[in-house]
Amino acid sequence: MKRIAVLTSGGDAPGMNAAIRAVVRAGIHQDWQVKGVLNGYAGLVSGAMRPLGLRDVGGILWRGGTFLGSARCLDFKTEAGRQQAVDALAAQGVDALVVIGGNGSQTGAHMLSQMGVPVVGIASTIDNDLLGTDMTIGATTALNIALEAIDRLKTTASSHRRAFLVEVMGRDCGYLALAAAIAGGAECVVIPEVETRPEEVAAAVHEAYMRGKPHALVVVAEGAKFDAAEIARHFVDNKADLGFGVRTTILGHVQRGGNPGAYDRLLASRLGVAAVDCLVRGEFGVLVGLRGHTIGTTPLDEIAGRTKPLGPELLRIAPILQA
Ligand code: F6P
Repeated sequence: MKRIAVLTSGGDAPGMNAAIRAVVRAGIHQDWQVKGVLNGYAGLVSGAMRPLGLRDVGGILWRGGTFLGSARCLDFKTEAGRQQAVDALAAQGVDALVVIGGNGSQTGAHMLSQMGVPVVGIASTIDNDLLGTDMTIGATTALNIALEAIDRLKTTASSHRRAFLVEVMGRDCGYLALAAAIAGGAECVVIPEVETRPEEVAAAVHEAYMRGKPHALVVVAEGAKFDAAEIARHFVDNKADLGFGVRTTILGHVQRGGNPGAYDRLLASRLGVAAVDCLVRGEFGVLVGLRGHTIGTTPLDEIAGRTKPLGPELLRIAPILQA
């Protein structure tokens, strides 16, 4: 192995820079050349790559986002686009590729692998919905950002005796919402995995009021059947008897924008080095992820196009703690 390339793809996640840095430094440690692909699969299709040295990845460990850029690339979804990407790798003498990203990105990595490109994936998305890893890079930092918002909203909610609907990201996965609801002490959580009707949310808020709570926090996953705006509209349209007044806060991309915390920096550093270790031993077509406390690999064909279901434990304890 002489030259590898690394790219970040899909929604950026805090810790992606730390992962790039780890891949670059571990690659150079092997006396390999490392190239950074700009703007995810879009840069791969157009052949936009630049050499990365040790100093190019200095000062990025603590920074959110991805300094290589990311994109959701339509061209790469076509066979012709993917062939262009394979040709660009060959033209630039790249022997193997590391893909840092979430579900869609790893599905893309799997396609390249099937076309003969030696690929290793690194699990990174705030959604934590990727099979093959207990935790994805960025999820913990995004969760902490959601918690900071929830803590702040609670003080104003209590002061005015209000209920807040707080919508968090996570695409079709309820992990961020469920974890934020448990760690933030919410009175109710609405996630895609468990259908919760607006009437049920209204009942939970009203019960919290009747129990003498000074506020009610409802965490709503953006991918739930009824999102925060729909639930709020239902409250108004049906003149729901909540006890509390209601406000809605949609956190949106604020959650992706933070600098990575200790957990994500460490996870990203471990996974970055582990990805290069895979390339060294010729283990291709796999995702590196966290299994318990250790790093493990999972074939990309077991991951591509699928998502990780929510663990039953969090689902079980959430309602117990909402009392
Ligand atoms: O997959 C990460 C994520 O932040 C999801 O939680 C969210 O649904 C989506 O990306 C938003 O995508 P975009 O940044 O393209 O609006």
